[in-house]
Amino acid sequence: MKINVPRGTCDVLPVDSYKWNYIENIAREIANRFGFREIRTPVFEHTELFIRGIGNSTDIVRKEMYTFDDKKGRSMTLRPEGTATVMRSVLENNLYLSVPTKLFYIGPFFRYERPQEGRYRQFHQFGLEAIGIDSPAIDAEIIHSACTFFETLGLKEIVVQLNSLGCSECRPKYREALVEFFESHREELCSDCKERLSINPLRVIDCKNPNCKQIALNAPVMIDFLCDECKAHFEKLQKLLSVYGVDFKVNPRIVRGLDYYTRTVFEIVSNQLGAQDAICGGGRYNGLAEEIGGKSLPAVGFAAGIERTISLMTKCGCSFGKEPTPKVIVIPLDDSCEEYSASILGKLRSAKISSDMIYAKKNLKKIFKELSSSETEYAYVIGADEISANKISVKLLKEKNQVDIPVSDAVNFVSVRGNC
Ligand code: HAM
Repeated sequence: MKINVPRGTCDVLPVDSYKWNYIENIAREIANRFGFREIRTPVFEHTELFIRGIGNSTDIVRKEMYTFDDKKGRSMTLRPEGTATVMRSVLENNLYLSVPTKLFYIGPFFRYERPQEGRYRQFHQFGLEAIGIDSPAIDAEIIHSACTFFETLGLKEIVVQLNSLGCSECRPKYREALVEFFESHREELCSDCKERLSINPLRVIDCKNPNCKQIALNAPVMIDFLCDECKAHFEKLQKLLSVYGVDFKVNPRIVRGLDYYTRTVFEIVSNQLGAQDAICGGGRYNGLAEEIGGKSLPAVGFAAGIERTISLMTKCGCSFGKEPTPKVIVIPLDDSCEEYSASILGKLRSAKISSDMIYAKKNLKKIFKELSSSETEYAYVIGADEISANKISVKLLKEKNQVDIPVSDAVNFVSVRGNC
């Protein structure tokens, strides 16, 4: 039986991998520019971390986790997101002692979702988390950094949708109002939502069932219930976003699919992505550290989906830079020329000139034709004549010209022309 890649995952082939590097390099540059340092955590964690961190009522915990028992019978889960893992590490390694703790990560995450365009079972995120500060100033920095990331990639037609989910002070009153509202529609709700209603009525608002969606349109919204402190936080955040020149829209229906959020929540969406339109999501999660057994730590962050970012960049015609190609290709015309060619190749590589050798005994014309559509600039052709005369026959691929050079000039020829 032929073995294929698992459903919902994909290979990143060489024709695309440079795009990933391009985005990851910009992600690192932006993270550094905003003062964030890299953290790498394991791809699997104790299942308990996600149950307590993300919340029992979420689709992620109820339906989408890759959970398995290890050989000692301990329940482990492939990380479905980065925030709980980063917070676990911050608490475990006392990183919160320097405030704020500003961390970023890039890596794979796993959710057992129904695959479709923009939704995979293994996907990748670039995320920032700022831990230890409760001020809306850091919420604004986080949103500004996400927007700077997308702008730097050339994505302009994106919208920041902003909301506040309140705090432990004001949320219970909102919860009561929600329960009252949805109870009056109980019979029309899907079976999942009937259950959600008693565990976490907020989850009914982001149910994907069309009936539930329709009902939720008239549900009360959290921003009408915010306490004075949450209201002040939300207003200050909006002022600061304007200071940074970040355009945003308040969307009171953004509730996010994870239970840990308090106050600020946001999503960055594009109308060019179809059903899976969010390229980025985030918010404040002041209760998460305590939820997973740590001290109380205010925190805020975001994660951007790399696959969706690539898809949007492709749709918008954004540049991914160039795929790196060797500057020089050495072509031995037959086996007897390989040693002479190898010594030239060795010298080029020692001089940090990207170079490669073509071993296949193909027709030279065919080789030049293939090379003409690449970025390679020089073909060093080595035959018996070149060896006996201690020279290299150089084909200048861009200028469609040919010159002979002494073999001692193999490196210099490229270096000098490279500096022209
Ligand atoms: P999230 O909204 O679940 O948030 O995911 C963030 C982004 O990851 C999404 O906007 C989307 O671009 C991408 N994404 C999520 N699931 C998939 C999937 N199945 N396939 C492809 N892309 C996907 C979080 O994960 C939070 N940890 C964000 C955060 C950080 N909140 C605070 N700090």
